[in-house]
Amino acid sequence: MYAQAIEKGGLAVVTGAASGVGKVAVLRFAEAGLGVVLADLPGEALSAAEDEVRALSGDRTVLAVPTDVSDQNAVANLADKAFAAGEVAVLMNNAGIGMPTSNWDKIDNWHRIIEVNLFGVLNGVQAFLPRMIAAGRPAVVVNTGSKQGITTPPGNPGYNVSKAAVKVLTEGLAHELREARAPITAHLFVPGFTYTGMIQRFAPTKPDSAWTSEQTVDYFIERMAKGDFYILCPDNDVSSQRDRKRVEWAIGDIIENRPALSRWHPDYAEKFAAHEAEAMNQS
Ligand SMILES: NC(=O)c1ccc[n+]([C@@H]2O[C@H](COP(=O)([O-])OP(=O)(O)OC[C@H]3O[C@@H](n4cnc5c(N)ncnc54)[C@H](O)[C@@H]3O)[C@@H](O)[C@H]2O)c1
Repeated sequence: MYAQAIEKGGLAVVTGAASGVGKVAVLRFAEAGLGVVLADLPGEALSAAEDEVRALSGDRTVLAVPTDVSDQNAVANLADKAFAAGEVAVLMNNAGIGMPTSNWDKIDNWHRIIEVNLFGVLNGVQAFLPRMIAAGRPAVVVNTGSKQGITTPPGNPGYNVSKAAVKVLTEGLAHELREARAPITAHLFVPGFTYTGMIQRFAPTKPDSAWTSEQTVDYFIERMAKGDFYILCPDNDVSSQRDRKRVEWAIGDIIENRPALSRWHPDYAEKFAAHEAEAMNQS
């Protein structure tokens, strides 16, 4: 549906648009001929991103709307401003945060992560979808998940839960749009390790294993244009074949009745290594 959405023109609305993959996505949608609405927390980064995209947008709409996506009223205001400016061709619910969490500690961080990463996406879907469906025009909805919401590695359970929820929400949304015969497709965008603002806070220079935001967004748009729902982006460490092996192993925990997160269980270390190594033979 992406090609039809672009062809019809209109607006791309992107949250988390002031930095990282959101900012590059805005630039790519503007280059594809769409007007753009940038949503992010208020601040200089949002104004700078607005200036950057305006420079390549000619006379097309460029609107920056300071928005905290965890605030339902703020997202409703974003939708009102966007629909007042034009038809929505692309809705990309991308804003997200990482904060440390653990299972028996840091409940405040759990609340904030879920509020931003899950409710931020849900607020976007609820504020925009009724009017997008009523418009009856081709459009796409992109929600940004994470491999941590699919293979759920140990380390940050709050982040994993938020991103697993985004996966489930987006799967259901894709199904319902299909059932409703709406000319709108939903897509789950899953970046690999990407050197963005989120990572720069810990690593002052780009690790070799990371992709740039440009690499990740270009891959995602290419796959979305081909109609993929699950868009798992590789990086310099993890190929698509390796991702598939990891996903297969994770769901295999249920099918094979293995312990939870057996990939990180010492008794399964060799078996997992052998399973993952099969990816090398498939590349
Ligand atoms: N970078 C990676 O390796 C990676 C991997 C998997 C998933 N992701 C996901 O990609 C998405 C984009 O992150 P990024 O890596 O580009 O990081 P980033 O920090 O560069 O960009 C995130 C943007 O979201 C904004 N934001 C945060 N909280 C917000 C809120 N409450 N309301 C509105 N905007 C808010 C930030 O201000 C920032 O501009 C996130 O959902 C993140 O979880 C990133």
